[in-house]
Amino acid sequence: MEGRRFFRFSLILFSVALVLFFVWANLPHAPPHPAVLLDCASDASWCFSSTYRPRKQPPRTVITNSRPGKTADRSDHASDTPRHPLDPLTVQEINRVRTSILTHNLFADSSAPYALHSISLDEPDKALVLRWRKGNPLPPRRASVVARVSGRFRVLTVDIGSGVVEVVDDEVPASGYPTMTIEDMKSASWAPFSDAKFNSTVEGRGVKLSDTACLPLSTGWYGAAEEGMRLIKVQCFSTEGTANFYMRPIEGLTVLVDLDTMRVVDFVDKGPTIPIPKAANTDYRFSLVDVNQQLNLINPISIEQPKGPSFVVEDGHTVKWANWEFHLKADARAGVVVSQARVRDPETGEMRPVMYKGFTSELFVPYMDPTDAWYFKTYMDAGEYGFGLQAMPLDPLNDCPRNAYFMDGVFTAADGTPYVRSNMICIYESYAGDIGWRHMESPITGMEIREARPKVTLVVRMAASVANYDYIVDWEFQTDGLIRLKVGLSGILMIKGTPYSNLNDVPGQEDLHGTILSENVIGVIHDHYVTFYLDMDIDGSDNSFIKVGMKKEQTSPGESPRRSYLKAVRNVARTEKEAQVKLKVYDPSEFHVINPNKKTRVGNPVGYKIVPAGTAASLLDLDDPPQKRGAFTNNQIWVTPYNRSEQWAGGLFVYQSQGEDTLAVWSERDRPIENKDIVVWYTLGFHHIPCQEDFPIMPTVSASFDLKPVNFFESNPILRIPPNFEKDLPVCKPAASA
Ligand SMILES: *[C@@H]1O[C@H](CO)[C@@H](O)[C@H](O)[C@H]1NC(C)=O
Ligand SMILES: *[C@@H]1O[C@H](CO)[C@@H](O)[C@H](O)[C@H]1NC(C)=O
Repeated sequence: MEGRRFFRFSLILFSVALVLFFVWANLPHAPPHPAVLLDCASDASWCFSSTYRPRKQPPRTVITNSRPGKTADRSDHASDTPRHPLDPLTVQEINRVRTSILTHNLFADSSAPYALHSISLDEPDKALVLRWRKGNPLPPRRASVVARVSGRFRVLTVDIGSGVVEVVDDEVPASGYPTMTIEDMKSASWAPFSDAKFNSTVEGRGVKLSDTACLPLSTGWYGAAEEGMRLIKVQCFSTEGTANFYMRPIEGLTVLVDLDTMRVVDFVDKGPTIPIPKAANTDYRFSLVDVNQQLNLINPISIEQPKGPSFVVEDGHTVKWANWEFHLKADARAGVVVSQARVRDPETGEMRPVMYKGFTSELFVPYMDPTDAWYFKTYMDAGEYGFGLQAMPLDPLNDCPRNAYFMDGVFTAADGTPYVRSNMICIYESYAGDIGWRHMESPITGMEIREARPKVTLVVRMAASVANYDYIVDWEFQTDGLIRLKVGLSGILMIKGTPYSNLNDVPGQEDLHGTILSENVIGVIHDHYVTFYLDMDIDGSDNSFIKVGMKKEQTSPGESPRRSYLKAVRNVARTEKEAQVKLKVYDPSEFHVINPNKKTRVGNPVGYKIVPAGTAASLLDLDDPPQKRGAFTNNQIWVTPYNRSEQWAGGLFVYQSQGEDTLAVWSERDRPIENKDIVVWYTLGFHHIPCQEDFPIMPTVSASFDLKPVNFFESNPILRIPPNFEKDLPVCKPAASA
């Protein structure tokens, strides 16, 4: 799965084939390598030449913008200005930051190589943001920058107004390196070709160098031998006869590369006798499907909104829909960040805070194969690769329905140049035919009551393609106050080559570490953990975390015909350790975040509950090096006191980190969390034993968890919504049985 790479194969590969050929023909020394495609992932102008234009759909939604006449379709973003304290850095701001940084003393030696690993908004203090109202001047805009200069990593902040640069190296953790730049990954995947032994080994395996594609795979951390150097492992594949080169590994060939110098440090070939799996039936591009073989299973389907959508995106980032309002932005590391989510109280009309900030904090994807070419595959996609950096433009007709509105991301290249990732996020109203609430009276009562309300939701979506694997992250808002966080897994498995082409040939004792999916192809067992940061602010910042345990009570003899029943027992977590939760089916609890200072009419504290699902837990040894780094998955739920430096569950610098800056370490401080500003962390987990249906590309598997109001409203908040009436709907009748 997380091999790593960000080429958008499905659309771009095909669309730019001609351009590639041109580039190729003009760069005789460039290996004909998919890395070329990376330029599309960053900012190369040829990606957006007349030859290939990403299908930027004109927004179909009516977008209100305080600048009349402007739509959201400002593809260069050159004139964007921030309008909200949490707005991401604009193109102009990034350029200013870059200038300030590069004129700072640290960068005085113009011959010293440098790289800017990230430039992002240094969000103003929470108190300032909460006080801010539309129309007020913005708090000072600051950027946080992670830079490598003269071989050292530095954390800097830049005051954008004054250009003053401050070095805050005390924030640099004891171990680990920052998220790789796209340029790191691109160069690493080329690095092996500088090594004659690599070339001859590849050719010896029967793969033409011109058909060789390599992936930069983060190394994890496995002890002293790998310390003191920023390392990456590169493994390669044959692209001959398929775009799905992931199915054609040159198994066992691992090249260790120094990420700073791009020199080959080590080289191992443990698979000289393992064949390269065949290309047949691995491609997944529709353009290659024979017309007679297409499976046309359904008629076209689409959502109609005759009166237009019910949401607006104001000032570029504020989404207002139904009874919800929130701030939305793209982030290079987290992907999507939802801030200041507030819901309207149907009684008072007041917008009530629910969550100050929520995002995907880290992913952990350990593979379950301890052999040489596989043991290190224990990826952390957000901190190592950048979950947002790997989120490619969404396809307007297929990734999101036709009624979707698209939002872009603005990121930076390693030299600090801003670039636009278009259509990175989509927002749309979803009607899946579900029911919001209903009741029908049976004839017994003689009351002819038929009441039902349709459920329409608002979905915010992004999809990251971390090399072979694709993650779809949805934030779904419901009018009844519920927020559903859903992660879908699709894309292509990380495949292991094997001499076996049938299970019958495998000696009984041999551990394949996975499933034979096709001839010479093993899908290796692995887990996915997606850890969410949820700074809940239920009606204000000071909240408490309550475990509402379901306990079996025994009746006394003679008390009741019943022997046993369930009782809800409320326990307030006073400190962090009391809020470390391992889910247990036979010792169940509800998990409430409440505001102890605010009660409903009948005296219940107002709250939201975390409704768990996707509950796979890591079974690795707590002392296993990857589990130490991924210790934020040791519990499914954690609660920490709000601390602006504790946002990344695996640590600020995750790459090759040793696990001393994780959520697990912070939580061990056991700080008080009762009636405080608290952050809830939830991990969605998946075990994945691959099966043949996952070949050559996987149907999406999803899991979700909910944030659900619990005594937050005085009563059902959507009691008074109208049902659908025939006159309101577009003409759309089933003709199938007519
Ligand atoms: C390895 O092969 C590539 C592609 O043909 C070539 O560009 C490179 O120079 C070769 N490396 C060596 C050391 O010969
Ligand atoms: C905030 O987090 C940082 C990083 O974990 C830590 O060094 C600091 O002590 C924390 N502050 C408080 C008040 O817990």
